[in-house]
Amino acid sequence: MTGPGVTGVVGLGTMGLGIAQVFLQAGLAVLATDAAAAARDSARERLAAALEERVAAGRMAAGARDAALARLSIVDGPADMGRAGLVVEAIAEDLTAKTALVAALEDALSPDAVIATNTSSLRVAGIASAALRPGRVLGLHFFNPAPAMRLVELVSHPRSDPAALARARTLAEAAGKTVVAAPDTPGFIVNRVARPFYGEALALLAEGRSASDIDAAMLAAGYRIGPLSLIDLIGADIHLAATRGVYEGLGRHPRHAVFPVLEQAVAEGRLGRKTGRGFLWPQAPGPAPEDAAGIALRIEATLANEAATLLGPAGPGEEGIDTAMRLGMNFPRGPLEGARALGLDRVRETLRRLARAAPAALAARYAVTPELEALE
Ligand SMILES: NC(=O)c1ccc[n+]([C@@H]2O[C@H](COP(=O)([O-])OP(=O)(O)OC[C@H]3O[C@@H](n4cnc5c(N)ncnc54)[C@H](O)[C@@H]3O)[C@@H](O)[C@H]2O)c1
Repeated sequence: MTGPGVTGVVGLGTMGLGIAQVFLQAGLAVLATDAAAAARDSARERLAAALEERVAAGRMAAGARDAALARLSIVDGPADMGRAGLVVEAIAEDLTAKTALVAALEDALSPDAVIATNTSSLRVAGIASAALRPGRVLGLHFFNPAPAMRLVELVSHPRSDPAALARARTLAEAAGKTVVAAPDTPGFIVNRVARPFYGEALALLAEGRSASDIDAAMLAAGYRIGPLSLIDLIGADIHLAATRGVYEGLGRHPRHAVFPVLEQAVAEGRLGRKTGRGFLWPQAPGPAPEDAAGIALRIEATLANEAATLLGPAGPGEEGIDTAMRLGMNFPRGPLEGARALGLDRVRETLRRLARAAPAALAARYAVTPELEALE
């Protein structure tokens, strides 16, 4: 059988395994592969263990788990995926490897099958450009852990085939995901709009505020985790690479500035959980400071300013951005609905005040974007 009922997953690491689980749980047949024999050989066992956790938690019946595993076929490589109507690639973040894989998949797949990349930082158009049928290559950006995170960003490019986009959306929605259309620009929606959540926390840290005060202020504002504790969890090195990617990719705007306090943490090996020491790790934030609301206002104002840059006729719209940030970052509210609740004038005034107080090199960081200026 060829069609949307059969899916393929290439790359069975953190993301690919989770994506395979998502499809299996949704009742789809999955053809899965990885270049590493060890990853192929262990995939069934790793998926069985992940599903067993759901059974043990009472969220899945044992029979459903068995049926899901029966729908899984581990295959030798992309050449064996001819039956799939959609294949997601979650291999190494390397353009050459991904374009080679797209070529191998095109050899195997039917002409209308969709090839989805889970890339975080490469341009989807770049991956698609080498394809015979670039229109069917699109981005389906899952979040980690894929089975738990509801958001999927659907990334299109100028040559996207609307039928391929519709097929990918339908499939991801059938698998229980909330799909938000995202532009093919660095960081898509979530990893771009979230930059100031971390960046403004680092700016405050550089100004001498304590990591505990900053994170406690955000907890008091309803966020589940503070920005610096989140960097500690992600790893400061991974975070620095993502920050640099957006900074370079978007023309080195001071809004995406890479703060020396972050570079210094990485240089000194203070990476967070994985090295035992980070901005706060192993500690939790203390009590909220007296000016917690001011700290949260500052971070939320910069979030809204960044979010607004994605507004525009062909963009995801306020609702798309807010949904993506609530689901992709577990934020208690989207940045634009947050700004509306605070008052748009107050948010713009906060940014102007920050611009006046900032050192010259950073003043443009706080310039109110034309899109935020235009919101009413
Ligand atoms: N880890 C995350 O939080 C996250 C979130 C969203 C997107 N992504 C993206 O998902 C992709 C995979 O990330 P990951 O964290 O799962 O990586 P990972 O290192 O855990 O897994 C990658 C797997 O791909 C396999 N692989 C590498 N090259 C291959 C090839 N040419 N053909 C077949 N298999 C190959 C590796 O053997 C490995 O098992 C990357 O593009 C990454 O940017 C990662």
